[in-house]
Formats: sequence, C-alpha cells, structure tokens
Amino acid sequence: MIGGLFTFCDRTADIVRWHKLCMDGYNSNMFNKKRLKSRLPVEAIGEPLYFYKTVPSTNDRAQALAQEGAAHGTLVVADEQTAGRGRFQRSWSTPPRSALALSLILRPEDITQVVLARMNMLGALAVVESLGALGLEARIKWPNDVIVSDGKVAGVLTEGSWMGEDLEYTVLGIGLNVSPKSVPDRREVDYPAACVEGGLEGKISRIGLLVDIIERIGSWLHMLDSEQIHSAFEGALAFRGQPVKISGSDMELTGVLQGLTHNCRLRIALAAGEVIILGGEDMQIRPVDMDRDWATLN
Ligand code: BTN
Repeated sequence: MIGGLFTFCDRTADIVRWHKLCMDGYNSNMFNKKRLKSRLPVEAIGEPLYFYKTVPSTNDRAQALAQEGAAHGTLVVADEQTAGRGRFQRSWSTPPRSALALSLILRPEDITQVVLARMNMLGALAVVESLGALGLEARIKWPNDVIVSDGKVAGVLTEGSWMGEDLEYTVLGIGLNVSPKSVPDRREVDYPAACVEGGLEGKISRIGLLVDIIERIGSWLHMLDSEQIHSAFEGALAFRGQPVKISGSDMELTGVLQGLTHNCRLRIALAAGEVIILGGEDMQIRPVDMDRDWATLN
C-alpha cells in the first residue's frame, strides 16, 4: 500500500511537471514588458525595468543608463540583441523569441576586492541554480560561462566604471540560450554551444526563468563576502578534480583543477605536486581531452 502511494505521488509529480512545462511553452511567446513587470522587483532588484524588443546590446544600454544615474537594481531586458558582446570582444548572438539577454545595474556598498571578484561569478551561479531547479544539471566554466552536458548555454559579461579608487557601478550582463533557435552555428564558436530546451523535454518560460535568475542574484548579493557563496561557487565549478588546460595571451599549461581561492582565482595542481594560483582577464579553461572531442564534433 505504501509502495502504491509512492508510485501515485511520483506520477502526480510527473504530471504537474509536464503540465507546468506545457503551460510554460504557451507562455514563452508572451515575453513582454507588462508580464515581466508584474513579476518584478524580486529581492529588491529588477526595478526600474527597461524592456526592448530589439536593442544593440543590453550591456551598452545599461552602461548609458548608469552614466545618467540609474539606480541600483535597474534591469535592462531585450528580446533581441543586434550587437551583443562577450568576453575577448567576441560577438554574442541573441535572435528574437529564443533567448534571454539581460543586464543589471548594481551599485554595491562596501566594495572590497573579494566582493568585486565574486560579482563576476554571481551571474553564472544564479543561472546554474535556476537550471538546476528545472532539472537541468549545469556547471560554471570559470570564470563566467555556464555549461551543460552538451555545451555552453550562457555567458556572463560584467563591466564596471571607476571613479578614482571607487567603483561607481557594475553592469552584470547575462545571455542565455533557451530554445534551439538561439544556438549559434558551430563555426562561430570556440566552445560547443547548447540551449536549455535541448536538455529538457518541453518548452521553457523565458519570463519564469528570468525572474528566478534575478531572485537568486538578489538573494546572493547580500552574501557576496560570505563563506557560503564561496562554497557555492566551488560546488558549481566545472572540471573540478579533472586535468585542464589553461591558456592566456602569453602562457599555456595543464594541471588538475583543485578549486578556487577566495578571490575566485583558480587553484591548479601541477604534475610535480606544486599548487599554483592563476587568474586573469585573458585566461580560458578547458578540459585537456576537449580539443580531441571538439575536433570530432566539427
Ligand atoms: C561571453 O560568453 O563571453 C559573455 C557573453 C555575455 C552576453 C550578454 S547578453 C546580455 C549582455 N549584453 C551584451 O552585449 N552582453 C551580455
């Protein structure tokens, strides 16, 4: 009898999940300012909201608003970007009705070097957690990408403006591939790209996902200098305990990824047993066997 009850409950959970996904599929076409505004702010961020059908880049728009004095928590969202940007001056594609492109203006108080370093990974952590809640296992590919088993689904671009020693504001930009239409061509990327719906059965509500990500950013924001967020970063880190190749503009080395320092730098164990700390704007990480796998994919 108890076994029967559990089976019934499991089925009920499946039905609820299936229904939610179907409803969300229906909702995914309803990505507009009115609907989004009715769900914001959460955790005191996401207001005011600037929503664009098309914009060159939400980060550029947010930077312009921040220069004009836009408040902490201001959110810029676009259905489509025509000149989205990523790290290393790469372009980031956001076709209409298929992805999330958002930028948050943050003006944190008491900014320390640790807080600053962690802000960069905060967006990636929030995405990892939101996808996990949908049942899709994701990891942070240091420093600010989100990957699932098929490849990269999201990228984060954090940009700041300094006034002498003081940080005036930060723009935290997130791009997330939701439907297959948002996945760029293999020839345009140097890491395999994937999308959220590719890893789940059914359509996903972009509004639901966006609000959930904002909520998670908002709740972690108060804990940026905590041990808890450091553990969460390490727990979500991709390739931990695995051999990786780190490359920068003037270096390349392999070692085993051990974890992160408190400033979000990489702890790498070299073959000789020595542990070194690495971190820099121009660095990239990939598993050592990736070049072979990537070659076979192309
Ligand atoms: C990367 O993978 O290098 C980071 C990509 C970041 C893309 C997002 S999309 C929203 C925001 N606007 C931009 O122009 N870039 C970021």
